[in-house]
Formats: sequence, structure tokens, C-alpha cells
Amino acid sequence: MMLKEAKERLISIVGIDNYAEDIASLKEAGSDYTEDLNFPPELVLFPETPQQISQILKACSEYRIPVYTRGAGTGLSGACLPVKGGIALSTKKFNRILNIDTDNFQVTVEPGVINQELKKALEPHGFTYPPDPASMGSSTIGGNIAHGAGGPKAVKYGTTRDYVLNLEVVLPNGEIIWTGSNTLKNATGFSLTHLMIGSEGLLAVITKAVLKIVPRVSEELLMLVSFDNAEIAAKTVSEILKNGYKPSGIELMERSGIDIVLAHKSLQFPQTPEDAFYLLVVLEGDTHESLMVQAESIYPFFEAQGALNVYIPNNADMANDWWSARRSIGELVKQTSIYKEEDTVVPRTKLPELLKVVKQIGKEYGFNSVCYGHAGDGNLHINILKEQLSDTDWNENVPKGIRKIFEYCYSVGGTISGEHGVGYVQKEYLDVVMTPTHFQLLKGIKNTFDPLGILNPGKWIESDLGLPVK
Ligand code: LAC
Ligand code: ZN
Repeated sequence: MMLKEAKERLISIVGIDNYAEDIASLKEAGSDYTEDLNFPPELVLFPETPQQISQILKACSEYRIPVYTRGAGTGLSGACLPVKGGIALSTKKFNRILNIDTDNFQVTVEPGVINQELKKALEPHGFTYPPDPASMGSSTIGGNIAHGAGGPKAVKYGTTRDYVLNLEVVLPNGEIIWTGSNTLKNATGFSLTHLMIGSEGLLAVITKAVLKIVPRVSEELLMLVSFDNAEIAAKTVSEILKNGYKPSGIELMERSGIDIVLAHKSLQFPQTPEDAFYLLVVLEGDTHESLMVQAESIYPFFEAQGALNVYIPNNADMANDWWSARRSIGELVKQTSIYKEEDTVVPRTKLPELLKVVKQIGKEYGFNSVCYGHAGDGNLHINILKEQLSDTDWNENVPKGIRKIFEYCYSVGGTISGEHGVGYVQKEYLDVVMTPTHFQLLKGIKNTFDPLGILNPGKWIESDLGLPVK
């Protein structure tokens, strides 16, 4: 339990309007999108300035209070969950776009800015911020950075990691620093900026981000390609790129995922009984005509690969429906069953085998799964459904199957997360991809930044001192 004097001090730092401790707020701050997990903190703080965060971290260091930084809470690995109580530090009030510098192709934003709001703000300037996680309508830039978020168009544009130039962060001892420079190049020592990307609130609190932006490509054309089996669909993904086509995204969707979406949402989405897997191929260009030319040249290629049907949307509404179907699979599968979200990633050509392995292991361990994701990056999301499984099966048997899937990924040069992070729920599998040497190196980093272990304790790495809570 937090000492009364510590709580009073924390509240006085942010002011009476910027904290919450009612049951509903604590419950909300105790969850993200991961399964049905809930770990309420003791207090939620909504600071407004880096200086307030500095004072909060100083106080929390003194009193050894766990600090869980939190954006919109859309994470899928439980990275922001306050598993040891303490405070949830919300970035909600850090929601300003501070500077749009189109001359230098960069912006400066606060971490609580919603990804899509940034895209919207850049549109009139003819620019965009490309990283496009499925959650972009609600997830924050800070959360995206903390997870190294990706998205469908990573095939062309890369992930969040490729867009962060410089970060202002508050260290656990309260010091405020910039991690790098506002330049496209920086060869000045180890990159502290890149250490922060994907650091899941374990090293420091991000308070400003300088991000790279790019001129916006004005036209997009979707092609929806259906297949009657997983293997051909997945093999087509690497063939598209090998044959010189240049889509900005190639998404894979299993039919069962689409069926769940269509049962919940009324969307225009073409289906024939034989369609078992879909690829959503995204073409981009400066004119609609040039895209139609691209589409016409790729059409016979899909047929030669063994596609069943190739669809092009009749209008913008239909294209939006296809995007909506793809982006809402995860959220709507959750309405039918609790699930464990796996975020496997393998070299692209291994995707057909990965799909086969997932279904085989599912049979062996008795679970159903819905597979979809960023096939162009070899990044497959596997929603493992709880459905009618007993708690014993869910908690003991299914993890054994998941471990096998991860072992397969590792054996072909892949890993256990492409964009969702390790957080709370994947920590038990980290040994599949990391040796004690890796852990020791990473622990050294954690010890250097956060020797007292106040930031995000209970997750996949702790400092040596840990957190003897006062
Ligand atoms: C998606 C999320 C789950 O791609 O990453 O839908
Ligand atoms: Zn994804």
C-alpha cells in the first residue's frame, strides 16, 4: 500500500484536477486490450508537463512506488498493466502537436497524440506519418513508440522505428534529457533513441517525440484476392514481391476472421463459399489511372498463382469497408471469445509453413485459431480462442502449444513478436529466443536507466535491486 504522505505529495504535484482514485478509473487503468486481464493501480495521475513527470518520478524513487506509463491502453501484450499496483501515469494530457516542419520533413509531438490525429493534421500540408497500426484511430504516438508498432503499410514504409528521430524523456531519477538529434543521420555513439523504441515503459517516460514525415501519396487502390487454401495464399505473398510488384501492404485474412467481422458489422465484402483465405493488396500511386494500370498488370499474375477471385472495390465506401473488415478482426474476435494474441514473425517465405504449423499444433493441443496479419512482413497474428476450453487447458495446455509455435518461428529465423511487444503475457516464452547472455546484457541496460526498478516492475525484465516497496 502506498503511504498516505506519498499519495498526498503525488496529488499535489499534478493538482487536484489531474488524478483519479475511484473504482471505475482504477479499473480502466488496470486494463489494456490483452485478454481479460485487470490489475488496478492505487492511483491514476494525469500530469501536464515534463517537469511534473520529473517530480513524480523523484517522489516515486524516494518512496519506491511502481510507475506504469499508459497511453490509450490498446496494447496486446499487457505492457502497461500495473501488475504491482502503484501509479498509472497517463499521457492523456500530453496531446499537442507542437511543431509541423515541412521544410525538414519532421514534426514534434507530445506522446498522447492519437496516431490518426497526427495523420489528419498533416494532410492539408501534403504530408503523412506512415506507421499505421490497426489501432491508429485510438492508439497514441507514445504507445506506438513504446511498442515499436507496425501496421499494414510497413511493407513500403517500415515501422514506427523508422520514423523516430529524437525523444525527450524523463529518467527515473527525474532528469529530463533528449536522446539524440533532429537529424536524419546520427552516428554519434550508441542510439539512445532506438533503445527507447520498443522499451515498453521500462527505461524512461517519453514526453516529446520528433518524428520523420513523408509527402503523402494521394491515391490508393485495394485488390482483394481470395484463395481456397492457406498455403497458396501465403506463398503468393513472397511471389508478389519477388516478381517486382511494389504494393505498400499485403495483408492476409483467414475466412473465419472475416465471417466473425461480418456477423458483427454490416460491410460490403465479397464472398464465395470456396474463399478460405484473402490477401488484401494495397497499391499506391499519384493518379487513379496509374493504379488501374498496375492493377491490370498484376491481375493475370494472381490468376497464375491460383487465386480464386480477384476483386477491386466499386467505390471508396467499399474500399473503406475492406479496410474496416481487416482492422476490426482482432477487436471483433474478442467479442466471440477471450483469446490469446500471438504476434509471430518469420522470414516471408516461411509463412506458408508457419500457417501449417499453427493449425497442426492447434489440433494437437485442442485449440482453434483465427489467423491474419501483415503477411508482406511475415508477421502473422494468431488469435487462439478460449471458447469452451477449461481453465486448466487454457492456462496449462495451450501455453505448451504456443511455445511450440514460437520454437518453430525461432528455428526458421523468426521471433515471438513483430509489433506487439513482450510486456506481461509473452515473458514466459522469452527463453525461446534469448539466452542468459541476452538477458544479462538487457538487464545491464535496465540497471543503468532504472536502478531502483520503479518503472513497470513485474514485466519481462527487472533491475537487480528490484523494488522493495516502502
Ligand atoms: C492488427 C493488430 C492486432 O494488425 O496488430 O490487427
Ligand atoms: Zn498488426
